[in-house]
Amino acid sequence: MTDAPDLFSILDHYIDDLFAPSDEALDGALRSARQNGLPEIEISRGQGKLLYLFAKLIGAKRILEIGTLGGYSTIWLARALPEDGKLTTLEYEPDFAKVAEGNLERAGLGDQAEVIVGAALDTLPRLKEQGPFDLVFLDADKINYAAYLDAVMDHVRPGSLILADNVIRKGAVLAPRADDASANGARAFNKALAADDRLEAVVVQQVGVKGHDGLAVARVK
Ligand code: SAH
Ligand code: DHB
Ligand code: MG
Repeated sequence: MTDAPDLFSILDHYIDDLFAPSDEALDGALRSARQNGLPEIEISRGQGKLLYLFAKLIGAKRILEIGTLGGYSTIWLARALPEDGKLTTLEYEPDFAKVAEGNLERAGLGDQAEVIVGAALDTLPRLKEQGPFDLVFLDADKINYAAYLDAVMDHVRPGSLILADNVIRKGAVLAPRADDASANGARAFNKALAADDRLEAVVVQQVGVKGHDGLAVARVK
């Protein structure tokens, strides 16, 4: 038996169909992710559109993503770039990175988006000459979120936008169980973000097809 969709999910479909219709490249990226056994943890269409709009609003020319998976969010973000813009995305799993590269190529973004394989805390220091990044999207392992925040501060400029997915975890961040590493990581990240004098930030709760979660939005002072 499958659960009936909740009202938030029904409205998410309504919003996504109106404002974030899919296309062959996006559908193909999800299809290839499933065919290759990647976990189904991509952002939603509407969340992709929001990332795209953030990037367009700030006129981002250099984008950094941490946590590529099959490149679904990467496609949304890279589509916001001007012709001479560039996106760098960091992925730990070589097999996932291969899938992402194929998806980006098929989306016509092969020249603009580069996937770098490795643990992001190891590969980040190598990116100095590619920056400063106008927009950074954190979406990798939640335990390292606070460390990522600290590390990306070397790769941004005043006015840069830092976004982080999954910082509410269905409310688990309020009082994370000791064995919930992701919720503990997100809670530590939120605390560090709020206390960081170099940034001004807030968290936006999100509901819908991806359940109840949140997006952190921060601006470098
Ligand atoms: N941004 C993607 C989803 C990312 S899922 C989308 O919305 O389409 C999180 C990804 O982070 C996974 O692919 C996982 O392999 C990767 N990841 C986990 N630990 C990592 C690390 N230490 N460095 C880089 N990537 C990591
Ligand atoms: C998980 C990771 C994500 O980036 C996400 O958006 C949802 C879930 C996870 O690891 O469970
Ligand atoms: Mg996520």
